[in-house]
Amino acid sequence: METNSVHQIAKSNFTLFVYGASGSLAKLKLFPALYELASQKRMPKDYQIIGYARTTMKVEEFKLIFEESVRAAHENIDKDIMKKLLRRVHYFSGKYDSIEDHKSFLNFVRKIEKEKKRVRIAYLSVPPSTFTAIFKSLGKVNFNTRMSRLRLIIEKPFGYDLQSAKKLKRVLYKSFQKEQIYLLDHYLGKEAVSNLLSLRYANSILSALLSKKYVSNIQISALESKDIEGRANYFDNVGILRDMIQSHLLQILAYFTMFAPEEKSSEAIHRGKAKVLKSIRIQAKNVVRGQYKSYKNEKGVSKDSTTETYAALKLTLNHKLWKGVPIYIRSGKALKAKWTAIVIEFKHGLLQSKQKNIEPNRLLIQLQPFEKIEFHLLTKLGGKTFDFHPIKAAKLIYCSGDCLSEHGRLFLEVVDGRQDLFLNFEEIFAAWRVIDPLQNYCNKMGEISCSPILYKKASLGPKAADLLIEKDGFKWFNAFPS
Ligand SMILES: NC(=O)c1ccc[n+]([C@@H]2O[C@H](COP(=O)([O-])OP(=O)(O)OC[C@H]3O[C@@H](n4cnc5c(N)ncnc54)[C@H](OP(=O)(O)O)[C@@H]3O)[C@@H](O)[C@H]2O)c1
Repeated sequence: METNSVHQIAKSNFTLFVYGASGSLAKLKLFPALYELASQKRMPKDYQIIGYARTTMKVEEFKLIFEESVRAAHENIDKDIMKKLLRRVHYFSGKYDSIEDHKSFLNFVRKIEKEKKRVRIAYLSVPPSTFTAIFKSLGKVNFNTRMSRLRLIIEKPFGYDLQSAKKLKRVLYKSFQKEQIYLLDHYLGKEAVSNLLSLRYANSILSALLSKKYVSNIQISALESKDIEGRANYFDNVGILRDMIQSHLLQILAYFTMFAPEEKSSEAIHRGKAKVLKSIRIQAKNVVRGQYKSYKNEKGVSKDSTTETYAALKLTLNHKLWKGVPIYIRSGKALKAKWTAIVIEFKHGLLQSKQKNIEPNRLLIQLQPFEKIEFHLLTKLGGKTFDFHPIKAAKLIYCSGDCLSEHGRLFLEVVDGRQDLFLNFEEIFAAWRVIDPLQNYCNKMGEISCSPILYKKASLGPKAADLLIEKDGFKWFNAFPS
């Protein structure tokens, strides 16, 4: 499809420091995204990429790791582009908490940089336990340039609960200012997610219909067919409520239900999302926790683990547009399908109310495994009968125009100094205020109320999750592609 879109190109020269460059996220997401930017000619004239980690290795070894991770992610690699990219890749081995190492690192950085007019960006691709040491080191040695202060990219999770998120903010703000900090939830880099707000407000029919007046319920599902895939060290301490719901799914909810921002600015978007998140009301009895049957046999999981690998919950919003509309959210691992979607069901119209078992009108916005939008309508059967049958109007939503992977897109935003697609602490705190009481309730009530219900792998999770929605007269709408 032809578009008039202009491809976003990095507006300034940059030096990127990848902390934890020897680790999994850097290889899986960041290095392939940097190749993508180079291959799409979006890089500036002078850019340099420096891996920083404790592991000692020669720069040639690091370049090999970089290249292999790009090859694992992309099918067709252009040799020339790769060669030119690797010329800009460097490696520095140092401790995260050493000021001396960071002073040497700064000298190393200066020698590599050609143009002085540039931004420096530190990407923290390390476990949260190392954040404080890195903030301190980067804060004590002056990495600012004449053009801008050092920018920091930090991946979710932002804390483990409200208290630790507040601590993270305190430690960060000791050395850095708000405009230097980019809190990254990669879901917000997905085209389909950032499109949610535009979709609503660019279409007057949707703006008119999407409110408590017409909507009977909203369902947000993020189902995974994979299990924890050996990540027990991380997952068993966290669980699905913190890993998926506190971050990605509450962000999707906020994006989808917020008022149109009153102005075009990052602050207005953050305010709108925070308003939704602060308006969430939830009761502990409306949370179902599940655990897949072989979970405790996974390597690294304790034999008495009560970590939930599945959660379903019902909440409402104390928000002018949505008051009284039940919102159901579910997410889990080792389920029947991989599927992420928002389903909006509409109240029955006059004719629909008179007939039993009639399907409601629906709007389905599917985000994964591929993006599409569907309207479910009803049409009358032919003849004298007054019965209806459902029809679907469906369209795949391809990204057309300026399309990039999540990490590539978000990285360009940081180079350009825009924070719209990142989080702020107000939103993060509001989301923890939703999740913390649910966790505290379990700590208080102990095992009887909160130990997860076991479910079979490749199923749709515990039956109790179906009852949660069915007692309100609704059903989970499942539309996995076969
Ligand atoms: N992996 C993912 O798919 C994913 C997805 C979303 C978010 N994240 C987040 O992204 C960040 C990085 O994740 P990751 O999976 O790449 O982490 P990782 O592979 O466990 O760690 C990255 C690097 O950090 C250093 N490191 C690891 N443990 C350390 C420790 N205890 N103390 C000091 N240094 C340590 C290691 O490098 P050296 O020993 O060489 O210094 C390691 O190679 C985390 O905050 C994670 O929560 C990851």
